[in-house]
Amino acid sequence: MAGEATGVNWIPKPADATGITADFYSDMKTKPTEGMLRALLNAEVGDEQKGEDPTTNALCDRVAEMMGKEAATLLPTGTMCNEIALRVHCDPGDEVICDRSCHIVNFEAGGPAALSGVMINPLDGENGMFTVDQLRPAIRPPSRYAPTSRLLAVEQTTNLGGGGVWPLKQLTEVAELAKSRGLSTHMDGARLFNATVQSGVSARDYAAPFDSLWIDLTKGLGSFAGAVLAGSRAFINDAWKLKQQWGGGLRQSGYIAATGLYALDHHIDRLADDHALARSIGESIAGMPNVGKVLPVETNIVIFEISDRGPTAAKVVAALLRHGVRLGVFGERTIRIVCHLGVNPAAGSLLCRHLPGALQAD
Ligand SMILES: Cc1ncc(COP(=O)(O)O)c(C=O)c1O
Repeated sequence: MAGEATGVNWIPKPADATGITADFYSDMKTKPTEGMLRALLNAEVGDEQKGEDPTTNALCDRVAEMMGKEAATLLPTGTMCNEIALRVHCDPGDEVICDRSCHIVNFEAGGPAALSGVMINPLDGENGMFTVDQLRPAIRPPSRYAPTSRLLAVEQTTNLGGGGVWPLKQLTEVAELAKSRGLSTHMDGARLFNATVQSGVSARDYAAPFDSLWIDLTKGLGSFAGAVLAGSRAFINDAWKLKQQWGGGLRQSGYIAATGLYALDHHIDRLADDHALARSIGESIAGMPNVGKVLPVETNIVIFEISDRGPTAAKVVAALLRHGVRLGVFGERTIRIVCHLGVNPAAGSLLCRHLPGALQAD
C-alpha cells in the first residue's frame, strides 16, 4: 500500500506550530488524507435532519449492513453515541455493567449520571475484558431495593486495556448471559476495525449479540469528525429523538459522511500497519531502562508503566516533547502510545531514539 491513501509514507512534517513532529498521543490526531478531502469536495449533500442528505444516508445504510443491523444514524462523536445509547436502553436508577476502564466511566464527564441518571456497576476485568464468571454475580436479581441491572456495555477494542481484542467466544458468552437475564447489550466500537483486522473476525460477527453499537469515523479511520450508531429500527428511531433533543441533528453532513465512506474503502486494511508499528515500539520499550509492565500489544495501542526508580510519566512526556514527540500521560507512572494514520516507522524511530533518555530524566 502506498501513497497518501494509506498514510504509510507520510513523513512527519518539520515542526508545526506546536513543535510536534510525531504525535502518538491518540489516534484522534490524524488529518484527512488528500483522497479523503477529494471525496469531501465531491460529496452530494442535503439536509440530514430531514433525511435528505444522500451521502449520509449511503454511509448509514452501509454501516448498518456491515454490522448486520436494521438502521444507523450519523452523530458528531462517539461520546454522543454512547450517551444516547445509554439513555435509550436505560431509565434513571438503572444500572449499567461494564469494565472499570471503559470510556463511559472515565472520559464522558459523568454523562451517564448527568444525562441518563444511571448507576455504573464496574467490573475489574483483565485489560478491559471480563469473563462470564465475573459478570454472573454482578447481575442483580429483581428486587424492590436494588437498582435494575439494565445494560451490559463493552469496548472493542479496549482503550485503557491497551487495545485488547475481546475474543469472539468471551464476548458472545458475556452478551448472551446478559440477554438471558433480560439486559440489553451495547458495544463501544470506537476501534472495532482494529479488532477485525487483528483477528480476522468480521464486524458483523462481533456485532451479532449486541443490540446497539457504533464505529468512529475518526481514530483508525482517519476522518476529522463523526461516528455511526447502529441498531434495530426502533432503537435508531429512539436515538433520533434524543439526537434532536441534544442538538446533534446535522445539516449538510454528507461532507463528513463522504470521508467516512472513503475511509471504509481505503483505511481499514492499513490498520495492520499501525498494529505492526505499535508491536515494534512495544518490543523496543520492553528493553528500555526504568520500564515496568508493558501491556500486551494486540493492536495500535501501547500502554506501559515506569518503574519506581524512574521519573513520573509527566516528566517523561515533557522530556520527549522537547524532541517533537508527544505521548499521553495516563496515570502517575503510566504512558499511552497510539499508532495511526498520522505516524509512520520514521516517527516510531524518533520515539524509540529519544525515549530511553526521557526515561532517565530527573
Ligand atoms: C473507547 C472509546 N470510546 C469512546 C471514545 C469517544 O469517541 P469520540 O472522541 O468520537 O467522542 C473514545 C475516544 O477516545 C474511545 O477511545
